[in-house]
Amino acid sequence: NRVHRIAVIPGDGIGKEVMPEGVRVLEAAAKKFGFKLAFDDFDFASCDYYEKHGRMMPEDWKEKIGTHDAIYFGAVGMPDRVPDHISLWGSLILFRREFDQYINLRPVRLMPGVPSPLANRKPGDIDFWVVRENTEGEYSAIGGKMFPGTDREVVVQETVMSRVGVDRVLKFAFELARSTPKKHLTSATKSNGIAITMPYWDERVKEMAKNYTDVKWNQFHIDILTAHFVMNPDRFNVVVASNLFGDILSDLGPACTGTIGIAPSGNINPERNFPSVFEPVHGSAPDIFGQGIANPIGQIWSGAMMLEHVGEHDAAAAIVKAIETVLSQDKLRTRDLKGPASTSECGKAVAAALG
Ligand code: NAD
Ligand code: IPM
Ligand code: MN
Repeated sequence: NRVHRIAVIPGDGIGKEVMPEGVRVLEAAAKKFGFKLAFDDFDFASCDYYEKHGRMMPEDWKEKIGTHDAIYFGAVGMPDRVPDHISLWGSLILFRREFDQYINLRPVRLMPGVPSPLANRKPGDIDFWVVRENTEGEYSAIGGKMFPGTDREVVVQETVMSRVGVDRVLKFAFELARSTPKKHLTSATKSNGIAITMPYWDERVKEMAKNYTDVKWNQFHIDILTAHFVMNPDRFNVVVASNLFGDILSDLGPACTGTIGIAPSGNINPERNFPSVFEPVHGSAPDIFGQGIANPIGQIWSGAMMLEHVGEHDAAAAIVKAIETVLSQDKLRTRDLKGPASTSECGKAVAAALG
């Protein structure tokens, strides 16, 4: 009898509203497919915890969640109460770095029945992966402030690209591209302006591509690439990018598929030396928190990615299918998709669609 131990961290804002729906659907899937999920709930990595304890997580957070099979995460950040860089660098970004989750895998898919804001796009036209570098790049802790408080004040923040760090995300992306029917990869940089790190990334892509002669690839500067996401989203299959560019592309892509509310992600340590974190792409959405209208699909789909990761492939596929069934019915969609459903109505519908 298969048992998977899952650490559950709802976090802040709508993380607390969408997480129960994610858990509901996972439990339904476990029941149907004959495995067990042992959930452990944690209240840290939230601004409530910060206000009580003066820090985002307990000192022994790694012991508390480091041996689970996976971590199921909601969202974090309440910028009116705790500065975002404090809450995020004290939680989510720590997970990614300390658990060496160097892949942030973010599927972008136009679902059947969901209207795209782009004209004349149908399911199949937008269906690609963003592979985002997740532990270095522009998200670095290296830098500082000089002459603080004076009119000579200067702030500097370094971008870090290590050969190991760049090569391992490129390798993952090329492997993923090779495993897809289209066998195509796109790399995003900005080598005309950012003249040291970005050309380095390009150089490593060229080198890595030599191991994947069956994969066709191209590269774009990030500015025109964002234009192509909107004008020609059908051209993409696997898009690999640095930490910051991958972040931006993984909001833009889902926006082209109707809403960021359905987009899932896996923060993955492929070697499985540490647990991986599965969470929606969106944040805590303080502007709609408390109304019961958040779209739970991003959380639920992230749950499917988590099941895939722990080896429950059939259950994962069934959840994605249930999501498609629900999204194709106007009355089961939430407000971001112009539907009337509440968060829990939508979540219950997905659980029911699992059969
Ligand atoms: P956000 O993703 O929280 O919200 C952006 C917009 O999208 C808002 O109008 C929101 O209402 C809407 N939205 C987001 N998710 C939705 C959903 N599931 N259903 C319906 N509408 C949804 O981004 P933001 O406003 O820039 O950030 C708010 C807070 O969340 C900040 O503290 C930010 O740092 C944090 N954040 C956290 C994560 C994360 O935990 N992974 C990701 C992004 C932002
Ligand atoms: C995401 C988020 C985070 C990021 C923020 C909240 C630090 O936007 O997961 O996409 O930039 O990685
Ligand atoms: Mn983001």
